[in-house]
Amino acid sequence: MELELRTSWSIGDVEIPTRLVLAPMAGVSVQAFRRQGRRYGAGLVCSEMVSCAGIEHRNEKTLGYLRVASDEHPLAIQIFGSDPSVMAEAARMVAAAGADIVDVNFGCPVKKVTKTGAGATLLDDPDRACRIVEAIAEAVPLPVTVKMRRGLENGSRACLDVGPRLVEAGAASLTLHPRSAKQMYTGEADHSLTAELVELVDVPIIASGDITSRARAQAVLATTSAAAVMVGRGAQGNPWALREIVDAEYSDPSREEVVAELVLFIRETVRELGERRATGFLKKFYGWYLGRGRFPRPFKQELVQLETLDEVETRLFAAAPGARFVLERLQDELPDGEEFLLDLPISIYGGG
Ligand SMILES: Cc1cc2nc3c(=O)[nH]c(=O)nc-3n(C[C@H](O)[C@H](O)[C@H](O)COP(=O)(O)O)c2cc1C
Repeated sequence: MELELRTSWSIGDVEIPTRLVLAPMAGVSVQAFRRQGRRYGAGLVCSEMVSCAGIEHRNEKTLGYLRVASDEHPLAIQIFGSDPSVMAEAARMVAAAGADIVDVNFGCPVKKVTKTGAGATLLDDPDRACRIVEAIAEAVPLPVTVKMRRGLENGSRACLDVGPRLVEAGAASLTLHPRSAKQMYTGEADHSLTAELVELVDVPIIASGDITSRARAQAVLATTSAAAVMVGRGAQGNPWALREIVDAEYSDPSREEVVAELVLFIRETVRELGERRATGFLKKFYGWYLGRGRFPRPFKQELVQLETLDEVETRLFAAAPGARFVLERLQDELPDGEEFLLDLPISIYGGG
């Protein structure tokens, strides 16, 4: 029997309307991505990891990650760092920015992050990891959650030792991506560990890793008893995968739908990042949207080489003229995306 994913659950007192969570992804999870995820069925979305040091030093680019739109809720903002008091201070900013949940990154395997004692290395220093969670839980009235890997080394089961301690320290939910940090993204996520973690703690567990279809989501939920599944790479340029996972409703999107979603994404990203940053940022998305057999491969190459986003838009509409009407409809249906603005003495909202 299939599990119904459109049922609500809670993290602390934050109600989440579906069992599908959109993964935090650095360089991907901009507001446009998160809002799109919500439209296609994600019950909870998450920012990419935000540096506590960047927040502490009021770095403009870092503070730009704290923009929250009214139609994103419920939203988690994820922070990374290694110093409990700096993390607690950053969490206060996250709360002030309007997030519903503060998520803490104990999973990032990238050297630039781990060498500072942050991300996945904290799985090897559970005392410090607990102090971080405690400090944040004390600092903010929001639920504090943690996203982690299985451990640092291949075969590690550190998550089963650290996870329950983090819950004791105040974590209201844990997300497990059961690969080791060493594995990066190779091999497979071992969700037998997710099932073990569910047995050990009494907070909701979110299962992350290799969930790309409804069948896989159903299998992971059934075999682990996790509260929800998280989807990352499967949703890149492919919000339709989210709809299939939640609603079992899937038909390949038409070219017009693909182009309309991509143009909307481009426009929203320009609004968020400014034209200059958006131009480079968006290039990886062309392949994600236009691949999967939707358009011939040279088309993506052509777009990547165009200099301005106006040219990209013109070329996209030339390839699928009907997309203009689909886009109009999409825009009419969009909720009014008013933003909650942090009261800061610098202009972080102009993009650029
Ligand atoms: C490009 C990219 C960036 C990521 N950035 C983050 C991040 O900022 N924070 C985090 O907790 N996980 C991050 N992840 C890990 C994902 O959230 C997720 O756990 C992982 O990709 C496995 O899920 P998937 O198989 O559905 O992609 C990232 C993954 C990718 C591919």
